[in-house]
Amino acid sequence: MTGEVDHGKSTIAGRLLHDTGSLTEGKIEELKEICERRGGGQEWSFLLDAFQDERNLAITIDTTQVRFKTAKRGYVLIDAPGHLEFLRNMFSGATEADAAVLVINAERGLQEQTRRHAHVLSLVGITQVIVAVNKMDAVGYNQEIFEKIAAEISKTLVPFAIVPISARHGEMIVSRGENMAWYQGPVLTEAFDALTVSAMLAGEPLRFSVQDVYRDHGRRILVGRVESGILKSGDELMFAPYGQMAKVESIAVWPDDPQKIEAHAGESIGIILDREILAERGAIASHADNAPALSHVLKAKIFRLRPAPFISDESLTARMGTSSFTVKTLSAIGEDMLSELTLRAETLQPVDFNQKIVLFSDAEAVGAGIVLGAGEYTGASDSKGQVFWFTGLSGAGKTTIAKAVEKELLGRGCKVHVLDGDELRRTISADLGFSPEDREENIRRASAIAARMAASGTIVIAAFISPSRAGRKHAREAAKGWFHEIYIKADLATCEKRDPKGLYKKARAGKITDFTGIDSPYELPEKPDLVVDTQNGDIEEGVQAVLRFIEERAMTPGIYGQDRFRAIK
Ligand code: ADX
Repeated sequence: MTGEVDHGKSTIAGRLLHDTGSLTEGKIEELKEICERRGGGQEWSFLLDAFQDERNLAITIDTTQVRFKTAKRGYVLIDAPGHLEFLRNMFSGATEADAAVLVINAERGLQEQTRRHAHVLSLVGITQVIVAVNKMDAVGYNQEIFEKIAAEISKTLVPFAIVPISARHGEMIVSRGENMAWYQGPVLTEAFDALTVSAMLAGEPLRFSVQDVYRDHGRRILVGRVESGILKSGDELMFAPYGQMAKVESIAVWPDDPQKIEAHAGESIGIILDREILAERGAIASHADNAPALSHVLKAKIFRLRPAPFISDESLTARMGTSSFTVKTLSAIGEDMLSELTLRAETLQPVDFNQKIVLFSDAEAVGAGIVLGAGEYTGASDSKGQVFWFTGLSGAGKTTIAKAVEKELLGRGCKVHVLDGDELRRTISADLGFSPEDREENIRRASAIAARMAASGTIVIAAFISPSRAGRKHAREAAKGWFHEIYIKADLATCEKRDPKGLYKKARAGKITDFTGIDSPYELPEKPDLVVDTQNGDIEEGVQAVLRFIEERAMTPGIYGQDRFRAIK
């Protein structure tokens, strides 16, 4: 609920609580007592203010969050006095509004501020707006005044409903009253009940944001919220940013409901998976074929919440859903309150179009808005995102060549990233060993990450032993055709002689098991897209061959010196 301070928002809130019967007997008594003590009449806003002041009272009605029920469903009404507070509430709170009530004072009519509020509502993507024209009693319930305001506000937004009300006398809130017989539309609560709640989000791709991980009687429960789409028991989910897959065994709700087999946008639920995965607060689960983009760079339309403009290269904390991360501002930013910012995140982030984002500086919300797209901020030349997948024995030269190629491409201003087996196993796959199953899972994670990075425009060089053909095939499929298998060829004897990490020696001595080539198989690539022979050729030749190969497939002539943002949506 938004509108200027004297437009009667708390009176409306108080009325809603009372007239819908959402106040318990005890609370009504306490309210009366406070009012009498204060010498006031039955002023509902005063009553709410009183609650806030009487801190010694063991009752809590938060004026910023009022809960009430109609016969149809329950509501949480969030008070947002001005656009700054509104944005803060919208973005920093756990709650996101499905609809808004814009309160206009009939006595004062439409103000500049009201238009600004309307603008902010559309900025955050709230399309259902109920306009409440309050204080109709103060203008003699004059129909003309109401209609004039209604016509004016309709030029600024498309209201879901426009209701003339008198919060003070409780008219057109729940009961119609006697003074506005000329109005035939719904009363306020009827308008609420006619709203579609998150339903329109059900048709969108599934996004489940993880808030917490619990253990309950030995079961591991991931608790979170279905932000959009539908999550069903039995669904295969992919968890961004790491890309692990797991199947939903059951949906947990409180109280227990064994019948619960699906959850829709807006629902907070727990899910139990068929396997343990590394998922922490901030992870986003989706269906694998409709996952969010993964990117370091995102572009957002941001409403500034502080007087000082953003400066280039400013370090901020971004919050999107349940995840928060460090970003730097990339674009040069003007003085406008509303601006488009390009942000570079320190870590890879799942990014969706139209997602809400809040920016913090030292825990203070300094900006809020929506994501316009994910992408990479390209440098000197433009390039297409693709996956170049290196396979071969340990010691064949995968990492060495990958790093050299990366360095060269970075020097040319390309967006390139090496995804390396050793590195992944220290981090994302730290929970995995070298059994065939664990290698399969390792490759599956690597494939998912590589594919998503490529989708955001990065040239990904993935260097994994990836000994199984099935695993490499999976990686190819994950990248949807933007995939090239490069066999870094050197036979066992050569690799064993090089033994850069001393692992062959350890494997021969039986100190490590399941070592590829020794006591674990390597399936030769059947039809690699490129073979780089490091056994008979030298490494530098290999680097050049790979560079040429990538150039032909991934590089398009860039616009030199012109930075540009490539949205992937
Ligand atoms: S893969 O088989 O799952 O593709 P990956 O490329 O991620 O393997 O990791 C291989 C790296 O792990 C090797 O370069 C080596 O440093 C290390 N390593 C440790 N133990 C083993 C093992 N038993 N087999 C292969 N590599 C091992």
